[in-house]
Amino acid sequence: MDLIIKNGSLVDSVGVYRANLAINKGKIEAIYSNPDRFSAEKTIDAEGKYIFPGVVDSHVHFQLQDLGKEISTDSFASGTQAAAFGGCTTIIDFADQTRGASPLKGFLERQKVANSQVAIDYGLHVSKTDLEFLDEIIALINEGVSSFKFFTTYSWRNLDLHDSELIKFFSVIRKNRALAMGHLENDSIVQQGIQQMIDEGKLDPIHHAESRPHIAEEEAIQKALLFVQKTKAKLHIAHITTKEGSDLLRTAKQQDMRVTGETCPHYLLLNEKAYMAEDGYLNLMSPPLRYAKDQQALVNRIKDGTIDLIVTDHCEFSRKSKGNGNLPFYKVLNGIPGIETSLPLMYDLLINKYKMDITKLITLMSTNPAKLFGLYPQKGSLQVNTDADLVIFDPSIEKTIRPEILHHNIDWNPYSGMKVKGWPIATILRGQILCENGEFIGPKKAGKFLARQLTYQ
Ligand code: URP
Ligand code: ZN
Ligand code: ZN
Repeated sequence: MDLIIKNGSLVDSVGVYRANLAINKGKIEAIYSNPDRFSAEKTIDAEGKYIFPGVVDSHVHFQLQDLGKEISTDSFASGTQAAAFGGCTTIIDFADQTRGASPLKGFLERQKVANSQVAIDYGLHVSKTDLEFLDEIIALINEGVSSFKFFTTYSWRNLDLHDSELIKFFSVIRKNRALAMGHLENDSIVQQGIQQMIDEGKLDPIHHAESRPHIAEEEAIQKALLFVQKTKAKLHIAHITTKEGSDLLRTAKQQDMRVTGETCPHYLLLNEKAYMAEDGYLNLMSPPLRYAKDQQALVNRIKDGTIDLIVTDHCEFSRKSKGNGNLPFYKVLNGIPGIETSLPLMYDLLINKYKMDITKLITLMSTNPAKLFGLYPQKGSLQVNTDADLVIFDPSIEKTIRPEILHHNIDWNPYSGMKVKGWPIATILRGQILCENGEFIGPKKAGKFLARQLTYQ
């Protein structure tokens, strides 16, 4: 065997059990009870630790071009290395179609950029920003793209699909058994909200939240649900932030609609007060941070199984790129980091604080994203013959989050000062130890592109 991990507590989406793992040629070769059954070149004693399948973060943006120019601060190299430190072994990023251009060409270019840099495995969603080249969806599916993002806002950046386009888009998605992934905010409400803030001279970060009110998310989710109901498409709702949005998801599921939803650590841990803090401009992202009542509602919807995934929407910019606090809110680039801290933060919140079942955490952060986006059981499981993508997690380590202890490419962090108990101490990708005890010891370009399966029967 290449590697043995003994005496750990294995956690997957079905249970927690004490066992040993033998890993050979990148796969889990055996899960067994007698620790002396196999020997290997390297053995890790994981007594007192958990072993999880690697986190599958299905919503991240590395090297994102925004407003046509700025590139988000993490490259695929720095971003995936930081991800590995955080226990993440798979990401799904985006190839955003430029309006009027071929999405297939854009996808192939993006793949080329990522291939030479990635430390962990990755897939790509394709974002559709118009109905040109709709027939390329078939070629993209053949390339391993099973999910297609759309926006109902950002008309000023030419990203949104209008109602009639959306219906057509959903029909094509349905016909090809793919998954539609929606960034859902009502464009007209958002545009009017921003204009109103400008007219009233309200340009501070807090007015970003005010300019994109709850109803913008609620209306867009409601309409998308209506369209998918009519077209029978399968919809995944990206970054749900509001009580209203999560309630709509719950009702849709009760009606057996093919719909899933995600939220992000920042919507659970931060609220609109973060915009009033010093450097509040750094916390600008869209949809915005909400109120304490929304945070509680999202936790409740996680607990009752309504929300399917926790993903980061990692999209970080330097202070300079965000304007050093000198820009009106509507000119600040949107997005915050999260990929390295999501597992310990969510462990601390949902397990330590809310006493949730630990299998549920792994379901939300690894198994469900792998299943939904066509990577299961190779990713998101602990099963014989699947990829040995593992995190060894020490539930007793206490840390205070600071940018200096992290490995992403900026000197700030939205969770700076938060204390957590529980930290990933080793991350293994297809049997190779990438990170151990705070050091990156593995190959830095071990990642590969993952062609994903369609999951809609
Ligand atoms: O503010 C955010 N979330 N930036 C990333 C792009 C997106 O809409 O997910
Ligand atoms: Zn989005
Ligand atoms: Zn995003």
